[in-house]
Formats: sequence, structure tokens, C-alpha cells
Amino acid sequence: MANGHLYVTRDLGPEPMQILRESGHEVVVHPDRDLPPTREELLEHVNGAVGIITLLTEAMDAELFDRAGPQLKVVAAVSVGTDNIDVHAAESRGITVTNTPDVLTDATADLAIGLLLALNRRIVEADAFLRRSEPWSWGPRLFLGRDLAGETLGIVGYGRIGEALATRARAFGMRVIAAASGSGSRGGVERMPLDELLATADVISLHAPLNGETRHLIGARQIASMKPGAVIINTARGPLIDEDALVDALRNRRIRGAGLDVFEHEPAIHPGLLELDNVVLTPHIGSAGEQTRTRMALLAIKNALAVLDHSGPLTPVSTLGSTGSRRDAVTVPSAGVGKQGES
Ligand code: GLV
Repeated sequence: MANGHLYVTRDLGPEPMQILRESGHEVVVHPDRDLPPTREELLEHVNGAVGIITLLTEAMDAELFDRAGPQLKVVAAVSVGTDNIDVHAAESRGITVTNTPDVLTDATADLAIGLLLALNRRIVEADAFLRRSEPWSWGPRLFLGRDLAGETLGIVGYGRIGEALATRARAFGMRVIAAASGSGSRGGVERMPLDELLATADVISLHAPLNGETRHLIGARQIASMKPGAVIINTARGPLIDEDALVDALRNRRIRGAGLDVFEHEPAIHPGLLELDNVVLTPHIGSAGEQTRTRMALLAIKNALAVLDHSGPLTPVSTLGSTGSRRDAVTVPSAGVGKQGES
């Protein structure tokens, strides 16, 4: 048994917590189920830890690793994205970083299609309309939206989640294109450079990881190149979009709408977004299926215990990318990015 505790930044639910408690390791859990530890609490509680199981709300950086001490062996993220973790700083201290790919792929693709349906068929607006109890009668233009069938979906970041979304979109009768390396069609999905995709797609859905090269991947210039009726869906990471530019474009109806599960300055929401009726907003719930969340917690725990018990982690992440991910699949050509992993 490792000499030191395993710090868990949130209660991960009954089954995962039971496994942790029976692991033989000393386990310290942040007591608040819903709120993350503050930075001060984090720095205090990681002191002496051999492992940290963390959510995406906590910055895991050099200062924190040093505060933990040289016995820290593993940082296991309960997320697929690891942009909150300084993987380079971890590596240079011999700390293994892991994530939870695959287990949340379907849940996230489901939410992306849900946001698209809500936006295109104006479901949230229509619900709010009925709740206002205004008199209404059926009419041919009442909440007229856009069909999915026949629309072109452009997937930016064609990894596991992008592929799962493509499967769903094709079932709805959509044509699917992707900003991915190579040319021609793969699995019925036509690959093309990002600029061409932006000018072609009716719906643009983001599934790229956040890194130095993908921050503001979609800014004023990219929005200007979209079709006037385009909608954008983001279930990946907020900073992929320049939110000021997006709000401007939505306000003046330069594009038709946006479905956003993630935000540039999360948990803050751009006040402009809250005033618009052509957006559907959800609070970063892409993986929030009960079964998915349990699978994520179990995978993170397995990863942490595997490192502490000296067997290999299942899904490690390195500065070269996540070994569980398909590296070529998330390249976004022409934006000059070709990073691994996905969000
Ligand atoms: C969620 O955003 C994740 O990265 O798992």
C-alpha cells in the first residue's frame, strides 16, 4: 500500500466510493457533493497525497504538484478532456495523468444531437411560450423551425465523439462532413479543410480538445465565412469559440443560432447569450448520464489504483496525447492544429 492518501475532489457516488474505500488505500474526500474545493482547500488537502482523483473544475498545475510532494504518483481525471491539468509539469515530476475516454462518447453525442433538435425545432422556445399561458391557436408558421433531414452537419474534431455524432446524424438523414486530415470519404463522412467545412455546413458541431492552437478556433473571421442560416453546437470546450464574436453574430442574426453546453469563462455565462432567443444553453452536462458518470468514476478509480498498485494505467495521457485516442482522428487541418484527445 502506498504511503500517503488518495485525495478525491468530489463524492463520486455510492458504487465508486465503496470500491475506493475497500481498496486498502487511505481515502480523503472533499465533503461537498456539488461544489469543488477552493484553491486553498485543494492545496491543503493534496499535501502528502499519493494520488488525486479530480474533476475538470480543478486546476492541476506545478504549484499543486509541488505542494502535494514527491510521493504524488497519479492524477486521475474523471473527464476525457485534461486541459485543466498541466500534463507537462506532471510528466516532469514522474506523475502519471489519466483520463476517461470512450465511456462518455455516446452521452456527449446524444447531448449534441439534443441541442441540435432543440435549436432546429425551437423546442425550448415553444415550451416557454406555452408556460407563459398566452392564447394560441395552431397555424402553419407556429414555431416554424428547420428539418434535420437534408441538412449538412460539419464536425470539427473528428474523434470518437465526432464519429458517434455522425452515426446519429446520418440516422436523421443528414449529410455529414468533417474537418479531418486526409481527403475523400471515410465511413460515409467526407473530409475537408476547416475553411471549406465552415462555408459548406448548415450545422457546425465542435469536438476538438482545447489547447493553445484550438483556443478561439471559431472567431469573427470563421463565423463570417459560415452560411447565413448556419447553427453552431459546442459540447467540447467553451474557449474553442470567441464568445464575444459569437454573441455579435447571433444578435445581428448573421448566423441562425447556437446550442452551447460549454462556455468561454465557465461557470460565468456571457450576459449577451442570456438575452438571446436563438440559443439553447445547458450547464456542461455532456456526460451527465447516470450510467456514464458511474463508468467515468470507475475508470478514473481503476486508473488511480493501477498506478498506485504498480500495474499499468488503462487510459494514460501524455504530452504526446491520450494513448486511448485515435490521434489522426481529431486533426483540424488548415487551422494548423493537430492535437490528440478530444473533448
Ligand atoms: C467533459 O467535459 C469531459 O471532458 O469529460
